[in-house]
Amino acid sequence: MSDGPGVDVERALGETEAIDPPESFVRQANVSDPSIHEAFASNWPECWERAADLLDWESAYDAVLDDSDEPFYEWFTGGKLNAAYNCVDRHVEAGGKNRAAIKWVGKRDETRTYTYQDLHREVNEFAAALRDLGVGEDDVVTLYMPMIPELPVAMLACARIGAPHSVVFAGFSADALATRLARADSEYLVTCDGYYRRGTAFNLKSKADNALLDVNHDVRETVVVDRLGDEMGHHLPSHQRDYGDLLDDHAGERVDPVPRDAEDMLFLMYTSGTTGEPKGVTHATGGYLAQAAWTSHAVLDLEPEDTHWCSADIGWITGHTYVVYGPLALGATTTMYEGTPDYPDRDRVWEIVDTNAVDVFYTAPTAIRAFMKWGEEYPERHDLSSLRLLGTVGEPINPRAWQWYYEHVGGGECPVVDTWWQTETGGMMISTLPGVDAMKPGSAGPPLPGIDAEVVDAAGDPVDAGGAGYLTVAKPWPGMLRTLYGDDDRFVEECWRRDDDGGYRYVAGDGATVDGDGYVTVLGRIDDVLNVSGRRLGTMEIESAIVGVEGVAEAAVVGADDGPDTAVFAYVSTENGYDASEELRERIVETVGETIAPFARPERVVFAPDLPKTRSGKIMRRLLTAVASGDDLGNTSALRNPEVVGEIQAAVRDE
Ligand code: WTA
Repeated sequence: MSDGPGVDVERALGETEAIDPPESFVRQANVSDPSIHEAFASNWPECWERAADLLDWESAYDAVLDDSDEPFYEWFTGGKLNAAYNCVDRHVEAGGKNRAAIKWVGKRDETRTYTYQDLHREVNEFAAALRDLGVGEDDVVTLYMPMIPELPVAMLACARIGAPHSVVFAGFSADALATRLARADSEYLVTCDGYYRRGTAFNLKSKADNALLDVNHDVRETVVVDRLGDEMGHHLPSHQRDYGDLLDDHAGERVDPVPRDAEDMLFLMYTSGTTGEPKGVTHATGGYLAQAAWTSHAVLDLEPEDTHWCSADIGWITGHTYVVYGPLALGATTTMYEGTPDYPDRDRVWEIVDTNAVDVFYTAPTAIRAFMKWGEEYPERHDLSSLRLLGTVGEPINPRAWQWYYEHVGGGECPVVDTWWQTETGGMMISTLPGVDAMKPGSAGPPLPGIDAEVVDAAGDPVDAGGAGYLTVAKPWPGMLRTLYGDDDRFVEECWRRDDDGGYRYVAGDGATVDGDGYVTVLGRIDDVLNVSGRRLGTMEIESAIVGVEGVAEAAVVGADDGPDTAVFAYVSTENGYDASEELRERIVETVGETIAPFARPERVVFAPDLPKTRSGKIMRRLLTAVASGDDLGNTSALRNPEVVGEIQAAVRDE
């Protein structure tokens, strides 16, 4: 926390008028009593029992919060529960067996519906299969799968037998998968032959196979889902298992859900941090599920009758919490879509909303900005009257995009919730309650009840209304990460700071402002993490990929403004004897694609004779960001080599 957050306060405070939630919504909302904020604040931490009450516990917890070993907080200690039981069995037992649990949309005209009964059967069969393959409690199972129903089935099968899952986004490269398998010591992999994008089959299996060649520990079992049929030829080597065959072998089998301690790990998920190493964020069963269910109830307003569509990929935390665990814990119907929003036409999303009578739609600002650019004629082609509530997550949303979403998708009748949270927080943290709070386009809203989010200055003191600072959380919350897998020290160091009174405060890595009503406007990342189209990328991760390219001496990666979006800019200096050639540029871009993911590839590679450094030898990123975005450079007096600045500016212009 040295430099002040580089934030655009003017933009943030360009205040728009508050909009009250529509009466019709408030009347039917799950939460509509304005006293809830105060009720939670005055009864903290016991207020969180209300979230835990949404779950079925195998045995009751002794304490809501155990803070005896800060910051290793524990929630609902002593309680036992099973996440798969909560997301599947109890709805079947309560008479909901024929209700749709998952509605899946694949290629054109390809759909599959899993009722809760179907889900129950397949989760049990796959759980039996995993157990048979040797998966025991606490063994990490890695899931490298596209958006097909077998992914949530596999997650729930793992949860059923108490094996934490580690889902790796299918867009990640073989190298990235290998790193995640190795770091989690994961001996089991469930993957898939491929998936369809824009009507074309994509191979996933070859990436998985390459990763398996790279991993130097023993991956004992690999299970492969046949998604493509004959398209890629589904010939598995004898040591790999076919998912369908496993289900057949275990047809009709039942596996009792394993009672898990509330604090037992439900899953881990690798995300980008401020070092080159992805961090394994671990989530505990009780607190995570309670917050997932509670926020789905209070913010997404879900009821069992509802069809919910969160358009995020399950490979990211948003998909974990709001495609899988939250909606299913409440017994609602969750929608999954394998494809892209503009294929075969730009009305695909609205067609899916229309056909499935979606009640609640939750997506990312990048998507909303694309819809806005394409024009309102696309939503207008469809009947969107089933929609009751809209949500956004992943990046700041500009007021214009917010308004467009509100008017052209919601018809001015659906509240829009702008929800701020992170992989580390497990569930939503800052958002208006749609049945209670007025909305301010562009501002996420007040912290949710029970969440003590605060915007503070460098000394850790709350900023005055109108001020900007660091977004932090002063008290723990149930869905918080428990540690970084295998690295408690990094967890304490990277995620927390100590206040003067010795208390721990969670540091989110975002800059934010707060207004007189306590509404928080999130401005973006202030650490070395980029947010590109709602996807988190560590600058160090990309830099280490680039410096691995022969001929590269040094690299610095920053995010540059590209309209309301962020583009990845790489500044590279070459080794003696190597030219800043087009070929080298291509190799850099390719390498990032191969070692991380195609979406991480730099938009621009700028060659520079040297990178701007402070006297202590640190690359001055703030300056590189300003150059990339064409902003004022500010004070450069701390530079050891100020002469390179002009050269870099010229390189950016000429490139
Ligand atoms: C950003 C995604 C502004 C933020 C759930 C955060 C947001 C990062 C919002 C976490 C929002 C998320 N307004 N920014 N409503 N929601 N962010 O871990 O920078 O993939 O730190 O979790 O996304 O990204 P992650």
